Amino acid sequence: MSSMRATAVIGTQWGDEGKGKIVDLLAADADMIVRFHGGNNAGHTLVVGGEKTILNLVPAGVLHPGKVCVMGPGMVVDPEVLIREIDALQARGLLRDPAWLRVSEQAHVILPYHKAIDKARERMREAGAIGTTGRGIGPAYEDKMARTGIRFGELFDDAGFRDALARSLVEKNEYLQALLGEAPFAAEDIWALAQTWREKLAPYVTDAGAEVRAALAAGKRVLLEGAQGMFLDVDHGTYPYVTSSNCVSGSASAGAGIPPQAIGHVIGIAKTYTTRVGGGPFPTELDDALGARLRADGDEYGATTGRPRRCGWFDAVVVRQAIALSGVDGLALTKLDVLTGMDPIRVCTAYEIDGKRQTKPPATQHGWARAKPVYEELPGWTEALGSAKSLDDLPVNARRYLDFLVKSVGAPMVILSIGAGREQTIRLGDVF
Ligand code: IMP
Repeated sequence: MSSMRATAVIGTQWGDEGKGKIVDLLAADADMIVRFHGGNNAGHTLVVGGEKTILNLVPAGVLHPGKVCVMGPGMVVDPEVLIREIDALQARGLLRDPAWLRVSEQAHVILPYHKAIDKARERMREAGAIGTTGRGIGPAYEDKMARTGIRFGELFDDAGFRDALARSLVEKNEYLQALLGEAPFAAEDIWALAQTWREKLAPYVTDAGAEVRAALAAGKRVLLEGAQGMFLDVDHGTYPYVTSSNCVSGSASAGAGIPPQAIGHVIGIAKTYTTRVGGGPFPTELDDALGARLRADGDEYGATTGRPRRCGWFDAVVVRQAIALSGVDGLALTKLDVLTGMDPIRVCTAYEIDGKRQTKPPATQHGWARAKPVYEELPGWTEALGSAKSLDDLPVNARRYLDFLVKSVGAPMVILSIGAGREQTIRLGDVF
């Protein structure tokens, strides 16, 4: 068999574009599904056969028995959450074979003090809070970059873990007490906790990158599952209102442990309107009854934290930039059904900043704060879309809207989602 190239699936907005549903769908044709960054700040809501599953860590391919789900070296993993998720999946008859879940020994571990720091720091920031998920993501990535983190493989190495923990806690406890006014952590308590994780997690730990490379070399179809979205990327997003990892397709290579040439195809997911959770700029936000309606009709509440999502019109400036940065060659457009009954529908095609029109997003916080959306208006439709089987079944104005989106962002549509169910999807081409 000849070597295959992987397909990456990434979010093109601020996360919550519907990646979970699309990855679950594409996983049917894949052999291996790999998450390459982030942790349980992500939340995927999957609806299969009317049954709802929320996944935070395990790749969204897990609902297909026999597919290998990989948590890659670029992730940060909270062992408690992972165990809870494995238990819940197994209770539903899924994940029967440990070979179907592989966890990188290089992934970093989120420990209780990471979560305490995340929450305390957000409290201290008050109005300037980022609105993190409070899951310890930022502090765990900070430790990784500061070279004081603990890796998943070290959980299984007594002396190594004890040593690393003791060293880390000296700094952490000082920081927690002196700066954040929080209680310190005892190494013995964390050590005891880690003992309880070991047996449960031992069957899954592996050199994940090597397994992904081997799968590709054996001609297997590999799907790289992005979390969050392009504008939460730590380098390319609306900094500092971002997450602590890279969300662009380029990071899939390092985060999965494969060379860049091994990525052959990039699918960008975009909601047909825009949402964002947490703080930070959002030029097309609708802070009014229309926004409330999108939130209600689209069930726009965080899958991880339950927080109401901020809602607004589709922003072509943002998605165009994501396409350019991630080399998106096919778009999956989601939740078109939610726009039924909105008339007119607006699309932001440029920003006006200090009286100047620009079609690229600003690079600075200051620029973002002053960006005013320039809108085009399109007529809406009133028909429900959930049962359409092909584009021909859609009302003419819905097709016109899709054509307009595709033209404004400059990438072809390969998938259209018109409801939460697997079957409420129109496929327009192969993605591998
Ligand atoms: P953190 O990743 O928990 O540090 O949160 C940083 C920012 O990213 C906050 O605005 C979060 O709401 C946002 N965020 C993190 N993960 C996701 C996600 O999966 N979907 C949407 N927003 C997210």
